[in-house]
Order: sequence, then C-alpha cells, then structure tokens
Amino acid sequence: MERIVYLDNNATTRVAPEVRDVMSPFFGELYGNPSSMHVFGGQVAKYVARAREEVAAFINASPEEIIFTSCATESDNTAIRGAAEFFGRETKVITTAVEHPAVLQPCRRLKAQGHNVVELPVDSVGQIDLDRLREELKGTKNAVVSIMWANNETGTVFPIEKVAEICREAGATFHTDAVQVAGKIPVDVKKVPVDMLSMSGHKFHAPKGIGILYARKGARFKPFMLGGHQENGRRAGTENVPYIVGLAKACELARTGMASEAEKLTALRDRLEAGILAACPNVRVNGDRSNRLPNTLNISFEYIEGEAIAYHLSDLGICISTGSACASGSLDPSHVIRAMGVPFIAVHGSVRFSLSRYNTDEDIDYVLEKLPPVIKNLRDLSPFGPDSDPTTFK
Ligand SMILES: Cc1ncc(COP(=O)(O)O)c(C=O)c1O
Repeated sequence: MERIVYLDNNATTRVAPEVRDVMSPFFGELYGNPSSMHVFGGQVAKYVARAREEVAAFINASPEEIIFTSCATESDNTAIRGAAEFFGRETKVITTAVEHPAVLQPCRRLKAQGHNVVELPVDSVGQIDLDRLREELKGTKNAVVSIMWANNETGTVFPIEKVAEICREAGATFHTDAVQVAGKIPVDVKKVPVDMLSMSGHKFHAPKGIGILYARKGARFKPFMLGGHQENGRRAGTENVPYIVGLAKACELARTGMASEAEKLTALRDRLEAGILAACPNVRVNGDRSNRLPNTLNISFEYIEGEAIAYHLSDLGICISTGSACASGSLDPSHVIRAMGVPFIAVHGSVRFSLSRYNTDEDIDYVLEKLPPVIKNLRDLSPFGPDSDPTTFK
C-alpha cells in the first residue's frame, strides 16, 4: 500500500501527541483516587479540577456545570432519559429523524414506555422546520427536546441558537448533541441557551472513552449512573483521571487552534468536493452546503453502492465511510440520507469524507487521483445507469 489517507474523522480521530504526553504520568506515579482523603488523592484531585476548568472554558461554561462521562452515548442517554424521568410519563419528547442512534434509541425506548415522542422530519438538505418545532411545543408542559448541533453524516449545522430560544420560550428542557461541532465551530453556552449538551473526546483528538455532559445550573434531570457521590452526585463512578486530563488538553488545543484549523479544513474539503464534481458525472452533494461543518463532505455517486466505493478505496489506503450501515445482513441505506428524500438511484451510493487537522494537500491529491477510476470501474459493472428503466429500481 502506497500510503494511508485517513478521511473518517467524524468516526474517530487520532489522539494528539500533546494529549498523549499529558496523560502518561497518570498511568505511572499519579495513580491516586481523586476522592481519597489523603494527600496522594488530593494531589490528583487538583489535576481533575484544573481539567474541569479547561473543559468549561472551551464552551464558556462554569466548571460546576461540567460532568465527565464515559462517552457521548452516555451523555445523550443521561440527558434524555434523565430529563424524561425527572418530569414523568406525561412529558412530550421531541427530537429529529436524523439524530445519531445515541439519541434516537433512548427516545424510542421512551416511546415504548408510553411517552409521546415526536421525530421531526428534515427537508432535502437536511434542515429542520422551526415552525414545526414551535407547533409541536404548543400547549406542552416540561417538554424535553433533543436536537443535534450538527449532523455526523452530512455535516449540516442546525440553527441551534434559534432552537434554544424556541425551547426556552416554551419552557422546555433543551439538550443538544454537540459531538460533531466540538473543535470545528465555536460553542458558547452563554450565547446559546441550551440546558444540556453532549460531547465526546475521541472526535477531537482525545482518546476514546471520555465524554462531556454540560448541564446548566438548575437543569432538571435525574442521574443515570447511580453509586458514589462523584461529579457532585450527578454521575457515579471513579473519575477516569488520565482521560479527563487528556480531554482537557484536547479542549485547549481545539480552543486555541479552531479558527485557523477551520479555514484550512474548509479549503481542503472544498478542493476535494470541486475535484470530485469535476471528475465524476452523476454525483450529488448531500447536506446543507451553506450551513455545513468545515471538515465534512457527503456525496452520492448515483447507480453504485457506497460500500463498494469504500471497500475499493480502502484497498488503496483511503479510509472513508458510507452513509449507510449494514444491518442484519441487508444493506440498509442511511436513515439520515433517506430522511432527506434522496432518490433511490443516489441513496445507496452515499459516502462520507471527514477531515482533521492532520490532513494535507497531498492527501486530497491522492484521493483525487485514485477515486475517479474506482467510480468509473464500478459504474461499468453496475446494472443501473442513466438509461435504466426507473421502474426497475426498488
Ligand atoms: C453525533 C454523534 N452523537 C453521538 C455519538 C456517540 O459518541 P461516543 O462514541 O462517544 O459514544 C457519535 C459518534 O459517532 C456522533 O457522531
């Protein structure tokens, strides 16, 4: 293999060397439990306190509003199920059809348990209708709303500030899954009045297995993890000290480098997009191109399968992901792409390229050299094409 070009950063990112460095003492001499009374524990507790301050600064929160979790899935579950439990069965729960399963599945569980749960539809670029949200909130008391800040598959950014205002006016508790915006666009919880917000370290160069739940002072939810008194009684379990310290370093790197990184990523992503559109016929860009994360490009290659594209590119050292997931032996198209009403000829052929600070111009050149022949070969083999009878598409 000539080289590896990693363009699957919305799935996970490389741990930054600076992050690795600050973590290593906590696998060695600094092994105390931050809850211990003795000096050895107290010494470690100071690092956790400093890390909490850094994470809080990243989103302009207060340190007491930061809860460390094991991942964003835990943060999402805690926020949604915890708020629903706080308010009881009568609570209406509102989300969107394009959320990550870490939000959709807890909402569906609540529905199975008797809650009134609404999944808002999206339009052809993956945007929600704010009037529809207002409509759904009318007459509700203590509704729980969970709407992502940006979509992991298409990069479409939702108007979260407006969503938060609408929720506030309706007296609803508003949680946002901000996993994909972390380190890509600024997040300021003083400007955007969310009640709860989730992030995941491994999406912005911290290790896998550490998450953030921001809970505004007074946010109403019941803790999910029960046990010890850690995290002010809001998340039991001994703190994952090395990962918390690493997460804080990742937040610092993201906070200080975000503006220049976003500019670089946008330029690389746009060059990739323009190159693909110029070299490959019958393609369409999925998502809201005017409100999109700087690092994400989701493209449908009509008449061929995304899995086949990803598989052939993988053989060439290019790592991307499909917009679709392989479910129980059948190739199910992505729920996000389907919710946008992308036509059949394109829905199966969607793939996602997602970049990080470690990508280079040479990476993009390599993809633009290798991808077009792969697409042409697959199209030559495909039974479908622009001249196919559309009634044969299923
Ligand atoms: C939007 C979104 N939410 C939640 C998650 C889950 O994050 P974690 O892997 O930390 O559980 C992901 C991961 O892909 C994601 O993209």
